[in-house]
Amino acid sequence: MTTFERAPLNYAELPFGYQKTDINVRYIWRNGSWDAGTETDSEFLPLPIAAPALHYGQALFEGLKVYTTKDDRALLFRAEQNARRMQHSAEMLSMQAPPEELFLEAVERVVRANRRFLPPYGEGATLYVRPLLLGSGAQIGVAPAEEYVFMVLVTPVGPYFKNGFSSTKLVIEDEIVRAMPGGIGTAKAGGNYAAGMRATVKAKKGGFGEALYLDSTKRFIDELGAGNFFGIREGKRYITPASPSILHSITNDSLQTLASDLGYIVEKRPVPVGELFDFVETAACGTAAVITPVESITYKGETITYLKDGQPGPHCTELYNALTALQTGDAPDSYGWTHEVNIN
Ligand SMILES: Cc1ncc(COP(=O)(O)O)c(C=O)c1O
Repeated sequence: MTTFERAPLNYAELPFGYQKTDINVRYIWRNGSWDAGTETDSEFLPLPIAAPALHYGQALFEGLKVYTTKDDRALLFRAEQNARRMQHSAEMLSMQAPPEELFLEAVERVVRANRRFLPPYGEGATLYVRPLLLGSGAQIGVAPAEEYVFMVLVTPVGPYFKNGFSSTKLVIEDEIVRAMPGGIGTAKAGGNYAAGMRATVKAKKGGFGEALYLDSTKRFIDELGAGNFFGIREGKRYITPASPSILHSITNDSLQTLASDLGYIVEKRPVPVGELFDFVETAACGTAAVITPVESITYKGETITYLKDGQPGPHCTELYNALTALQTGDAPDSYGWTHEVNIN
C-alpha cells in the first residue's frame, strides 16, 4: 500500500522532458574521498568558473528509470550496470567516479525523497533518474580536475519518442561521424551528445525522427544518438552491431538475453550497411527509447520501408512485451535484474 500522496500531474501525457521535483543530491570528491552527500531542493549547482567540466568537457552522465509495479512498488532495472558504465566513462575522461555502492545509494536516496513523483502503473510514464558527474575543481590548465561533483536528479517522464511504442523514420547520417575506434564513443560523455546534435537537427529538418550513425569507415551500422540498433532477419535472428565506437546499451544487452530465451538466434557482430535490405524489422533500443520500431531507413535518397502503416511488427512487439513485463514486475525476474527501492 502506498503511504504517500502522488504529485497531481497528468502522467499519461508527460513528455520526455525535465520537470522540477523535490530533492536532488550532490556528493563532492575532494582530497581523495567522497563526502556524505547533501540533499537540496535547489535546481542550481554552484561551480567554479574555471571548472574543467565547463572548459574541457569533463562531464558525463547516466540514465535509468524507476518502474512502478501493479501493486505500487518501485523497481530499478540493472542499476549496477549504470554504476559500472559510469566508471568506464570516467576512466575514458580521466575523471573520478563514485564507487558502485555510492552510486546505488545516491539513486535510491533521491528516488525515495521524490517518491510522490513516481508515475502510477500503466500510464506509460516512469521516473527517470539522471546521475551526473562533473570535474569541478578550479583550474585553467588542461588536466584532470582535482575535485568532482556527483549528483543525481529525477524527473517523471513520458516516452522518448512521441506516442510510446510506435515507430519512427531514420535517415543514415553519411557526413557526421559520431565516434571512432580509439575515441570516446563507448563513454556516456556529454560531448558525444553535443557532437550529435547537428545530425539530429539535420534529420528532423528532413522529416525524420532521428539519425542513424555509421562507423568511421562508413561501411557498418553503429547506433543512434540515444540508442543502440538491432535488426531481425527471417528465421528469428536478432542482429545487433558489435563496434568499438558505440555505447554499451544495458537495454540491448538485456534484449539479447530475452531474445535468446524466446528462441531467437542472437548475433552481435559488425553489420554492413547493405544488410539493411535483409532485415524484416529494425529498431532503436535504450532506456529512454525502450524499443522503438523503425518504420523506414533512408540512405543517399533511397528508402527501405519495414513497417506497413507504421505499425510495430510482431518481433519488436514480442521483445517489447517481454522486456517491459520484466521491468514492471509483471513477469517473473529469473535473472535478478530488478531491485526494489523501499519507498514507504
Ligand atoms: C548513445 C546511446 N546509445 C545507447 C543507449 C542505450 O543505452 P541503455 O540501454 O543503457 O539506456 C543510450 C542511452 O539510452 C545512448 O545515449
